[in-house]
Amino acid sequence: MEESKLRELLNSLSIEEKIGQLIQLSGEFFSAKDISVGPQKKLGITKDAVELCGSVLNVVGAKETHRIQDAYLKGKKHPIPLIFMSDIVYGFRTIYPIPLGLGATWNPDLIQKAYRNTAEEAYASGNQVTFAPMVDLARDARWGRSLESTGEDPYLNSRFAASMVKGLQEDLPKYGLVSCVKHFAAYGAVESGREYNATDMSENRLRQYYLPSYKAAVDAGAKMVMSSFNTLNGVPVTGNKWLLKDILRKEWNFDGVIISDYAAIAELVAHGFAKDNQEASKLALEATVDIDMKSPCYANELKPLVTEGKLDESKIDNAVWRVLKLKNDLGLFEDPYRGSSEELEKKLIMTPEKRELAKKVSTEAMVLLKNENNMLPLDKNKKVALIGPYENEHELLGLWAVHGDRKATVTIEDGFKKYLNSDNLFTSKGTDILRNKSIFRSMGLNSEQIDHVVSSKEIEEKNNEDAIETARKADIIVFAAGEHTIESGEAGSRGNLTLPDNQLELLDKLSKLNKPIILICISGRPLILTDVEPKVSAIIEAWFPGTEGGNALADIIFGKSNPSGRLSMSFPYAVGQLPIYYSQFSTGRSVKTSTHSSRFMSKYIDIPNDPLYSFGYGLSYSKVKYSNLRLSSKELEMTDNLIASIDVTNMSDRNTTEVVQMYIQDKFASVVQPVKSLKGFERVTLNPNETKTVNFEINKKMLSFYGLDNKLTVEPGEFNIFIGPNSDVEDFATFNLK
Ligand code: GLC
Repeated sequence: MEESKLRELLNSLSIEEKIGQLIQLSGEFFSAKDISVGPQKKLGITKDAVELCGSVLNVVGAKETHRIQDAYLKGKKHPIPLIFMSDIVYGFRTIYPIPLGLGATWNPDLIQKAYRNTAEEAYASGNQVTFAPMVDLARDARWGRSLESTGEDPYLNSRFAASMVKGLQEDLPKYGLVSCVKHFAAYGAVESGREYNATDMSENRLRQYYLPSYKAAVDAGAKMVMSSFNTLNGVPVTGNKWLLKDILRKEWNFDGVIISDYAAIAELVAHGFAKDNQEASKLALEATVDIDMKSPCYANELKPLVTEGKLDESKIDNAVWRVLKLKNDLGLFEDPYRGSSEELEKKLIMTPEKRELAKKVSTEAMVLLKNENNMLPLDKNKKVALIGPYENEHELLGLWAVHGDRKATVTIEDGFKKYLNSDNLFTSKGTDILRNKSIFRSMGLNSEQIDHVVSSKEIEEKNNEDAIETARKADIIVFAAGEHTIESGEAGSRGNLTLPDNQLELLDKLSKLNKPIILICISGRPLILTDVEPKVSAIIEAWFPGTEGGNALADIIFGKSNPSGRLSMSFPYAVGQLPIYYSQFSTGRSVKTSTHSSRFMSKYIDIPNDPLYSFGYGLSYSKVKYSNLRLSSKELEMTDNLIASIDVTNMSDRNTTEVVQMYIQDKFASVVQPVKSLKGFERVTLNPNETKTVNFEINKKMLSFYGLDNKLTVEPGEFNIFIGPNSDVEDFATFNLK
């Protein structure tokens, strides 16, 4: 409708109707089956508040959303359609690899297509908004939500943030999904990697490393932002005027809807920031949080705040306007269903084309971390024992695939059967994924349910024996192992990041058979593989690979696909290194340059400084040579640009895709800069023995950083450029910025 009419509508609403538009409740309040995540507890709001609530959390399905919409609109004095929002983070029904795997593709264009497909499935199912992408910078693998991030680098995360937002929103308003970027801001820096914990950093670090990916999402047009659970420098984000008003709204010109995270407004009391729900409501609304997700605050407290003269109703009007505008921009007043229907679901969901794309993404997400003596790809005539708890497991989707269809998952065994037959494929589960009953209990499983997933000691021993017997029949063992899906994702912080003990014990027994072992690692984060690495000949990090995971793994293992994935988050050597990331600072006593004695340098005395596997690292079945690094000039004027070039040669007899990475070091600056910062990359396909020249344009903007005044600046001086296969690259060229 015309905005003038929308303004009239707003002005005609009672305060109760206005407040209703600022509340989000989950499906059970609309007597719907829903997949509501987060703490379930009695909300304590009135029936009227439920009647007027303007948005629904995590209910999907054309039939269900239509039913709720119809019931809601019936008899309303002002029939303002509900808006359905959900966690559709890396797929709707067709599930892609977790975002940490998507980051490992280094292929934002491909991921944009995947997110457009996701939006198509979800809009057909009656959803209008997704709480995605999650663009938090993740540098601490103890944090379970590393799963949802594309990794540790601001530049790479920004590229993916933009592509995901564009993919979700490109078909708006008629189709597509509104992107609600989260969790603003700096949630990935929770202290000790512990979920919901405090974050604390200088404004300089915030602006330089933690804000860029959110900015990229807002610049790409994200229409919503979710405020995060954490405090930032002592102020909870959900009541943080500086972050939400001064930076997000004023500095970045964001005039869209801000929604709190789940119950986060009420949690301002638990933080010790508000003395009660009324004060929490005032603080959040004045920080311009528009929608209260699943807390009683706005529903119960906004009206008394106004009637008691503690809050100006105009602040409520501003929030309601942004919500009404969002609904109007989506055309919901004209079509509350926005074209969703069961017929459309059948037509658009989990189509062969969408599955094919999911397989391609899954294949590109996988990272070959080790391949001793070119053990991989496997010869199809070899006898293979596929052993381990993930060998035929359908749960390859990860914790946040809340609407995924696990029955549709292609398991690893399914994939292997496309290459091997009963003569040369022998399988055995060997052990459970996880046997730590307290972790299952913390997820709310009761004893009976736990007994269903944790075998008895007798069965465990029998499974072990069966695995050993099965392995004896084979030439090669493929060990499909990894962390349990409930060990990662939200509230999945871990202090110990190795494979589960029972899996390590089985691996020990298998390694005594003196047969080559290939490890397939299923995980939602970088695990500590330091003790496992010497026992296996090859390692593939598959993440939670999604609906087509089994097919993608088989295509890589049997050589149909040449792995091209590169890590977007470092794999630590030990948990004591965390947080760890490649773009470290030199310090005054770098082990690489210091002249002090060997002890008195910035290092550990008991473990190396370096991760087991670095950011940007990954192998393929080809050897690629980098040579002839050259610059178009050794001098760069502020107003000019220069070109850095390198030749890459495929030294193998098979096609390969190489992710050529360009890093820059600002050698001297008024605020010290990292020894390397990713500033560009290019995926290059190379035929056998083909050489290509890859060029990167260097300009002033690329060299900018946040100065002492926390404003972007560029300073003349010397810069090193590194171009190589990963962040360990040492060869560089130098230029001078005048
Ligand atoms: C959760 C998560 C957030 C999610 C929201 C709705 O607690 O922090 O990422 O979008 O609640 O489910």
